[in-house]
Amino acid sequence: MKRPRSLSGIKPTGEPHLGNYLGMIQPAIALQDDHDAFYFVADYHALTSTFDREEMRRHSYDITAVFLAFGLDPSRSTFWRQSDVPEVCELTWVLSCVTSMGLLERAHAYKAAKDRGEEGALNHGVFAYPVLMAADILLYDSDVVPVGKDQVQHIEMCRDMAQRLNHLYRAEVLKLPAALVRENVHTIVGTDGQKMSKSYNNTIPVFLPGKQLRKALMAIVTDSTPMEAPKDPEKCTVFTLYKLFATPPQVEELAANYRRGGFGYGHAKQALFEVMDAHLAPFRDKYNAIRPDEGYLEDVLQDGARRARAVGRPVLDRLREAVGFRVA
Ligand code: TRP
Repeated sequence: MKRPRSLSGIKPTGEPHLGNYLGMIQPAIALQDDHDAFYFVADYHALTSTFDREEMRRHSYDITAVFLAFGLDPSRSTFWRQSDVPEVCELTWVLSCVTSMGLLERAHAYKAAKDRGEEGALNHGVFAYPVLMAADILLYDSDVVPVGKDQVQHIEMCRDMAQRLNHLYRAEVLKLPAALVRENVHTIVGTDGQKMSKSYNNTIPVFLPGKQLRKALMAIVTDSTPMEAPKDPEKCTVFTLYKLFATPPQVEELAANYRRGGFGYGHAKQALFEVMDAHLAPFRDKYNAIRPDEGYLEDVLQDGARRARAVGRPVLDRLREAVGFRVA
């Protein structure tokens, strides 16, 4: 039986953090067992805010090594650099022509950038971002798109665009995808209790050396309940993160400690550090071992691009045919 295709992209914009890992990287990699996994380094997307060639190059390899370190298996899954399959830009243009300005003006990411008063940084790429993202998904006839909660609106917009195009050309030209949001991980909170995001400066990078990881966790903001008082674990960022790394009996035990009282947030943070460091250390070691070998990383990316293009090219031709362009 043909496995459903899962597709997702991640921007090469600096060290991936825990929010990226738990919200997208880990669930996406888990899908490779029963999906035809297609994941890419979203460098065209990063170009809306990165204007430094060395940074672009370095971060693209960083994120490739991160996926491989966390277990992406390039013999079963397809992993490539977005800009190595430029067909996606042609699809973006065709989709642009069936996408209303109003739809794009309602995009959360665009509205947020505008509200932050970042007029100077608001280039057309930022505005058109959801169209490129839709093209990413539609070019490969994707079935499911594992993403963090913040990206759900973009998937809905993608479905809107595909539906509108199919309607205009009265044919099932593009396949409608479904968002796949990991249920038990809602928004990953950052050290200040807000959503973890580079724009809030509250992230915990995944591959911090042990000592620095401990320091970052100790900086998590908690309330001022005194050490002796019983505490509600469900209201605490530290506990929320702990649940993502600990075994069920460990979670039970920590919850009991919170409720009993006489157990401070410092103790909880130390417990969190221990489970997190134990979980991340083997991946961190693997990352440090493969990251220097850019020749190998490039081989993985090139092989992935070749396989991605073999799937995307016929879809683009189907579209070219539908809109009345010549198909070679
Ligand atoms: N916009 C996504 C993010 O910022 C990254 C992305 C680009 C993506 N293209 C995609 C995710 C296609 C899923 C599918 O996280």
